[in-house]
Amino acid sequence: MVPLTLAEHGALAEARLPAVIWDFFEGAAGAEWTARANPDAWRRHVLRPRVLVDVSAPDCTTELFGDRLAAPYGVAPMAYHGLAHPDAECATARAAAGAGALLVVSIFAGRTLEQIAEAAPDGTRWLQLYWLRDREALAALVARAETAGYRALVLTVDAPKVGRRLRDLRNAFALPPGMTAANLAARLTSGAARSRAGRSGIEEHSREQFDPTVTWADLAWLRRRTSLPLLLKGVLTAEDARLAVEHGVDGLVVSNHGGRQLDGTPPASDVLAEVVDAVPADLPVLVDGGLRHGADLARALALGARAALVGRPVLWGLAHGGADGARAVLDLLREELLDTMVLSGRPTLADLDRSALAPWPPTAP
Ligand code: FNR
Repeated sequence: MVPLTLAEHGALAEARLPAVIWDFFEGAAGAEWTARANPDAWRRHVLRPRVLVDVSAPDCTTELFGDRLAAPYGVAPMAYHGLAHPDAECATARAAAGAGALLVVSIFAGRTLEQIAEAAPDGTRWLQLYWLRDREALAALVARAETAGYRALVLTVDAPKVGRRLRDLRNAFALPPGMTAANLAARLTSGAARSRAGRSGIEEHSREQFDPTVTWADLAWLRRRTSLPLLLKGVLTAEDARLAVEHGVDGLVVSNHGGRQLDGTPPASDVLAEVVDAVPADLPVLVDGGLRHGADLARALALGARAALVGRPVLWGLAHGGADGARAVLDLLREELLDTMVLSGRPTLADLDRSALAPWPPTAP
């Protein structure tokens, strides 16, 4: 079966993956309310098509921090792609580069930053960081990322610790033997492989290694160590968006971490406009969470995002088809975006503004 939707990629992945790994990918915090709300919320914005527009040459190419992308899209940072496929992040890097998509590499990648760069030298890559207690390890990673051609840093700020993910607790989830965070010393990663009844190795590891004391004042420390653009991922309010701008951040990723951190936070699509409106017009605001169709990408752009990131669907493609599967997921998203642009009479990204959307159900007059 050739998958025609992202959901069909998901079904193929679920059939292939061990249940505990599927649960780690799909699972989220608490009652998983936020995780369920994410995809549904995009569809609460209906599309307002314009007609009799020349749509013969739609164009969704874009530039982000000086790099060309085939569409305003990318792979969200996700730990341990090796859980999906033995080629791990090297396969994802080839897929992203082939599809002209950005790849945000997680600090918990299972391949080194250098191996990932080598796998797809022409691709656009950023590095995502959690703030570790060991600042020297963090500084060393930043230096390596610069040398290996990573083009921006994404500091994830919604995770003083990993959220309480019940599926992982029930499964006593821990990294299987041989799976490690390749860019960190063993002493900084081994906790994630410890399986104990009723506990999650991933959560315990985060308690050991993440620094929960970090505040806005600490950003200056990171800033001093790099000339790369710095984005914050996990901002959900206008208040924090304004603070981020005051602290000299170069961009934001509006994200509830796919519902994996604080259950009960709003779907990213519901707060995207609030964040966009709180920052200068030229500050790139990205978004992720629950994008499951190119039309969702069009909705994100119409609400003011400069680009959108996709998480789980890329792992689905990777799980059932390696680099080709992940590439198919990204290509499908881009084709669906172009289809949406053509059929809604909005052939350029500039045409995708808030007039492209209306709330659903319609609000009372
Ligand atoms: C994640 N996410 C994540 N985020 C981050 O900043 N660093 C990380 O290491 C990870 N790891 C991770 C692993 C897995 C298996 C998943 C599913 C997610 C969160 C990710 O970047 C993104 O915010 C969400 O996954 C986006 O939602 P969707 O597209 O998965 O619904």
